[in-house]
Amino acid sequence: MADSLDCAASSKPGTIDRRKFLATAAQGASLLALPGFAGCLGPRPEKRVLPSDVPRPALFQSALPLPPRLRAKPSPDGIARLALSAEEGLSSILASDSSRVSNPTRVRGYNGIFPGPIIEVDSGQRLLVLLANRLNEPIVNHLHGGRTPAVSDGFPMDFILPLAGGANPPRLEEIQSAAKSGGWQVFDYPNQQRATMLWYHDHRMDYTGRQVWHGLAGLYIVRDDEERSLALPSGDREIALAIADRSFDAQCQFKYPSMPDGMLEEAYMGGVLGDVILVNGAPWPSHPVATGLYRLRILNASNSRDYILELDRTMPVGYQFAQIGTDGGLLQKAIHRRQIHLAPAERVDLLVDFAGCPLGTPIRLLNTADSGPLGHIMQFVPGQTVAENAKLPDRLSNLEIPMPAPGMVERTFDFKYSRLKKIWTVNGLGYDPERMDAKPRLNSTEIWHLRTDFTHPVHLHLVHFGVLQHNGTPRAADMGWKDTINMVAGETSTIIVPFTGFTGRYVFHCHNLEHEDMRMMANFEVVA
Ligand code: C2O
Ligand code: CU
Ligand code: CU
Repeated sequence: MADSLDCAASSKPGTIDRRKFLATAAQGASLLALPGFAGCLGPRPEKRVLPSDVPRPALFQSALPLPPRLRAKPSPDGIARLALSAEEGLSSILASDSSRVSNPTRVRGYNGIFPGPIIEVDSGQRLLVLLANRLNEPIVNHLHGGRTPAVSDGFPMDFILPLAGGANPPRLEEIQSAAKSGGWQVFDYPNQQRATMLWYHDHRMDYTGRQVWHGLAGLYIVRDDEERSLALPSGDREIALAIADRSFDAQCQFKYPSMPDGMLEEAYMGGVLGDVILVNGAPWPSHPVATGLYRLRILNASNSRDYILELDRTMPVGYQFAQIGTDGGLLQKAIHRRQIHLAPAERVDLLVDFAGCPLGTPIRLLNTADSGPLGHIMQFVPGQTVAENAKLPDRLSNLEIPMPAPGMVERTFDFKYSRLKKIWTVNGLGYDPERMDAKPRLNSTEIWHLRTDFTHPVHLHLVHFGVLQHNGTPRAADMGWKDTINMVAGETSTIIVPFTGFTGRYVFHCHNLEHEDMRMMANFEVVA
């Protein structure tokens, strides 16, 4: 493990990986002209399970971890400040199953834990986050779903180098605005946005998949008065769940298919699937609940795995999931669903009512996209009755998703594998940090047509968008505000995107992290 993670082995920040650029250079229309050549270019890579080298832990033996919460409270100057440190820590991920002896797993995460602390902030509360890099390789930090000024958004080349021995980041009370120096960066998050659950994660050019896999991901919750007025389940009845699959080597360490230089092995460029499902960092956990209404805020923090969430029994209250929100916050009204498809980086806000469930009988959250252990996620065990139950609100929010209007700029983006270049492309091109692929005007609304050849969860930084149609079906109301939209092979979506907030350079990309690292990413610059 040390070989692929050690500093000397990682490519230098600021240089763009040679393998990917060689792959681009190796293209040439003349090759295609050779008879039969196109046929031997090989198939499009599929997602691939990386088998663990240790026996998998038993299901439902560990407790659900609840990550520590960092509540962003303003100082007298009105600004809230938090410090985070990207560092190594040890976690007893596999040892939590008492029936086995195992080593702790080395996590390379925010504050040394996976997932990182949950940051909680009020809408409109400006927050400065001071992040020190105490790992031995560069990192990049991005707040996914955040409406963030470009300088704090975590552009893939915006490296935070390792903090040099003896050096110190500034004192938290002293930071005033976005800033950066060797070993640390201050991120300026205005949080001028609706209440919802975001997440922060690594975004380093070419290495995001590996760095998130080893632990650099955490949840971030924005709250507002509209949401508070609904009196949704709170306290221990509001549970944030980050679902992520991982694989482990014989020493119980995270196993990821990297080459000695840390780059992804080509065989896995379709996507790395783990064979152990973690929820908040514990394998197939179990959680006690009362027989009342719960709010489950779920993130798919996996690199590449899709889930179809279902409960294993019919709920006595007459519905399974009441979906109240999505990536960009609350829906207009709750939608009852039997199953929820969740692609990487998507979030879903659900109410589940355990009223009437027999005490002691577990209710399992399944993943019907797979079978066996991978067909399970976690279980809830009703252990106490509640006298008075919370109610599901009839109306939740006003979405105000714009409608298409004459004069709106339209763009089309094709997300496809290039057999010739052996990379994942957007409109036939691999990612180039220097190239601007779109220049929307600040405060304009655009219509983007998205097309895919494979499963690609497409994500835009800075904005939230409405979905005008998905494969011919109008979807705006029931999908709400999104920042990531999943499409499977051959599907098309039309999204409507208001570019408000900030000018500057941002990325959009496929959130299958192996596709992203293998260049399925592009830039847009919001211009005044
Ligand atoms: Cu979840 Cu470009 O990010
Ligand atoms: Cu993002
Ligand atoms: Cu993709």
